[in-house]
Amino acid sequence: MRALHLACLLCLALSSAAQQIHDVWQTTWDRSKLFTNVSPTKPINFTTSVDSPSVKVHVDDTREVQEIVGFGATLTDISALTLTNMKVTDSVKYWELLKRAFDVTYGSDSAGLNYLRVPLGATDFSSTVYSLDDTENDTNFRYFDVNRAPSYVFSTLKDIRSVNEHLKVGASTLFIIKMPLI
Ligand SMILES: *[C@@H]1O[C@H](CO)[C@@H](O)[C@H](O)[C@H]1NC(C)=O
Ligand SMILES: *[C@@H]1O[C@H](CO)[C@@H](O)[C@H](O)[C@H]1NC(C)=O
Repeated sequence: MRALHLACLLCLALSSAAQQIHDVWQTTWDRSKLFTNVSPTKPINFTTSVDSPSVKVHVDDTREVQEIVGFGATLTDISALTLTNMKVTDSVKYWELLKRAFDVTYGSDSAGLNYLRVPLGATDFSSTVYSLDDTENDTNFRYFDVNRAPSYVFSTLKDIRSVNEHLKVGASTLFIIKMPLI
């Protein structure tokens, strides 16, 4: 059975000397089990670690399985603002940080990230709430304007691009539901 189990272990410790798991709750991807009690008949005992044989990982580089676009991070408004402030206070460290994160020619000191996700509009990591089109009923996006994003997002992206010209940027929506304050 193709099952992706999300097991929730609730542990009741009897004493610090003999810690045991009495309750196991499980929710499966196909919802056949929803927070279902699957506790063992006998409690599972925590034991001290024992020497295990070394784990061997075999990489078969003749077989391609999945194409990888890249590895990266998300540049939220707040991360761009933090980086921009850092550029002002310590530009040497700023550029070193960008190189360590994105510059693939920086050798083993670099994470070599080549993908950045940039949210379209504000997220919970923004200093103000905005979207790229806040005009009511503008279903044709006549007033859509990417420049509603703070300018420091673009300047930071430009700087990152300057240390890794192959950087891919993916824009994604993250919805914020505006709730009236009661
Ligand atoms: C856990 O330890 C207790 C005694 O400390 C023992 O009775 C019990 O059988 C053990 N449980 C398992 C699953 O081995
Ligand atoms: C937007 O559309 C709703 C529903 O049609 C309408 O009630 C509202 O007055 C409109 N708002 C503006 C600013 O046109």
